[in-house]
Amino acid sequence: MGNPHACGQCPITYYRQILALCELPPAYGVDHPNAQKMFPTDVISKAKEYHAIIEPLGGMGAYTEPQGIQAFREHVSSFIKARDGYPSYPKNIFLTNGASNAIQIVLTALIASEKDAIMTPGYQYPLYSSLISLLGGNQACYELDEEDKGWIVTRKESLERSYTSAVSRGLVIKAMSIINPGNPIGYCFDRSSLEIICEFCANRKIMLLADEVYQQNIYNGKEFISAKKVCCEIPACDNQLELISFHSTSKGIMSECGKRGGYMELCNISPFFHQQLVKLVSETSPCANTSGQIMTSLLANPPLPSDKSYAKFQKEKSNVLDSIASRMTSLVNGLNKINGITCQPVEGSLYAFPSVKLPQRSIKAAKATGEAPDAFYCLSLLEKTGMCVVPASNFGGIPGTNRFGFRITCLFSDDKITEVIEGIAKHHEEFYQLYTSCNCPRESLPPSKPKLKCLDHYTLICENAKQVAEFHIEYLGFRFLRTVDVNTGTVDKNNIDMKNYVLEPPGNPHMSVVITEGLNDDTIFWKYMKRYGAGIHHVAFEVDDVEGAFQYLRANGVRTTSDSVTTDMLSGLKQFFIDPAHAGFYIELIERPSDSESSDEIVNSMESEEERKHTSYEKTRTDHSFFTKGNMSDLANTMHSMLLEDDGPSIADDMTRLVSTPSVLSKTKQLDIGPIQLVGFSVENPKDAMKFLLDSFNFRFV
Ligand SMILES: Cc1ncc(COP(=O)(O)O)c(C=O)c1O
Repeated sequence: MGNPHACGQCPITYYRQILALCELPPAYGVDHPNAQKMFPTDVISKAKEYHAIIEPLGGMGAYTEPQGIQAFREHVSSFIKARDGYPSYPKNIFLTNGASNAIQIVLTALIASEKDAIMTPGYQYPLYSSLISLLGGNQACYELDEEDKGWIVTRKESLERSYTSAVSRGLVIKAMSIINPGNPIGYCFDRSSLEIICEFCANRKIMLLADEVYQQNIYNGKEFISAKKVCCEIPACDNQLELISFHSTSKGIMSECGKRGGYMELCNISPFFHQQLVKLVSETSPCANTSGQIMTSLLANPPLPSDKSYAKFQKEKSNVLDSIASRMTSLVNGLNKINGITCQPVEGSLYAFPSVKLPQRSIKAAKATGEAPDAFYCLSLLEKTGMCVVPASNFGGIPGTNRFGFRITCLFSDDKITEVIEGIAKHHEEFYQLYTSCNCPRESLPPSKPKLKCLDHYTLICENAKQVAEFHIEYLGFRFLRTVDVNTGTVDKNNIDMKNYVLEPPGNPHMSVVITEGLNDDTIFWKYMKRYGAGIHHVAFEVDDVEGAFQYLRANGVRTTSDSVTTDMLSGLKQFFIDPAHAGFYIELIERPSDSESSDEIVNSMESEEERKHTSYEKTRTDHSFFTKGNMSDLANTMHSMLLEDDGPSIADDMTRLVSTPSVLSKTKQLDIGPIQLVGFSVENPKDAMKFLLDSFNFRFV
């Protein structure tokens, strides 16, 4: 966080001395006989001046005017005039509780309906996005130049694009905000960027909000140029551009974040809008706190070269600024030495904004936890090193780019720089190693809520699989892929007792249907079919991360038919089955490697379309498998349990015990088409089944 005092930056003595003397009643402070021994004479005289201003208004404990104490606003106006060379008027200054308070007041006045929008930079300080959504408005992001071009604005077109796109969505652009110098990106706009921005706002007649809280934090010989100065100088603005600029006591040499001081200056703002702002302040928070107002006045009113405190003040000032600048240089250089991290030079503010190359597996692991990939990386950095940086994605982003990174402040003590860089480098290397090594430990990929990619296949159990398959092929346009003959253990090993016909549904080369038949009364599939009728036995969905899905579901109390992920007998792919107790039918989750062949490709590699047509699907392309180990035996056991539990009339006498919950799977619905029955599910408690699917897999209710 940009909280310098919390990170060891020392307060400037001069400011604190005056504030202390203002806080104390004169008899204990400015008029105390020992005051001269404790405070420089110029400090005492300045504090007396402040007392003379404050006391007639009721002292430090009284409300002030809504815009703040007039004399302090005069200090601020003089500061602005000296900085820019153009008039500034106290009547246009509002003293506020920090810049955040000022920005909140203005956005509150601007956003009146859900159609109102504010243009913000793609990467922006989250105060803007948060306030805009809190106030029910819209954000219209504009692009900055590419990273390697310094992230500045050199193209009017990018502003126009953002504007017209928002307008075409029915939005009304009320204002455009700039952060200069930037947060989170440490750019500092040069004059031409500011000219483009001012001209754009003037042409489009939208208000410009210039957040300039880092104007004193400038590096590398850059010069801060205010929006006000450019607005006063370019003919396009013609004293028409509505501009509100913000400044704060929280940054720069003062960095008194906790004192809550700041100001905003209105330029060319209509009397009506000005009046609304006054009304908003007076009716919602009558005035800014008096100590904050004093700090703002002091920000604008430092000691003069003729003052006794001047030398010490200058020394403290350059200590603060030099040390920040030197840390920033070391930080950027150090980051750039880390393989996989790139950081642009920082021109202003307190932050470096490096981009980080993330391994694909870490992106996948992050997605599984619901974290943004860079947030996942930053959390790992925090856990492993105790270092806290902010993920770049917290500040928004650039649509269509896959830039990952973080924002880091240079606010640590000078002697910590090596530790910081080494810590980041070591973590980066270990993180990269972990997520690129092929034996990346499973535990390092957190369990993920399964995201179902697509329906992979379903399996139908019936009495005459050949006939059902033929019907699908001849009348419904399914395509034959292969048969799979299986020995499930009820016959000697040279024979088969289960047959599968694998078909591809019309127009869906990524999916298959397996039509299965147990070939004798002892096979589980036969028993199952006899018990529950012909029908769909299980539905298989493809997931990205079957291991993660397994862990997630098990951790959430979902029963599976095996105690670990197994290998599918037919396809050789990693999969597992979910107990039908949950959804009313078996759900199989399966993971296909991205380079695995679709069923279409398998068929195409076998033979031409012509050949396929003339091939008997009974005889060819037959695989032999054994049904005695791995997932299928687990599945068979579960099926056996179900049969044992459901002690209905058609169950064999030796099946006695109930252990599962077969009641959810009741009779299947049957649809007669000629000699063939097409079957679907009928579950006893559709509400529960639906809830399970919605909760566990992000099914969408349509
Ligand atoms: C760009 C920007 N604007 C506004 C603020 C808020 O400052 P204040 O403490 O004056 O409310 C910050 C604080 O970090 C900031 O970075």
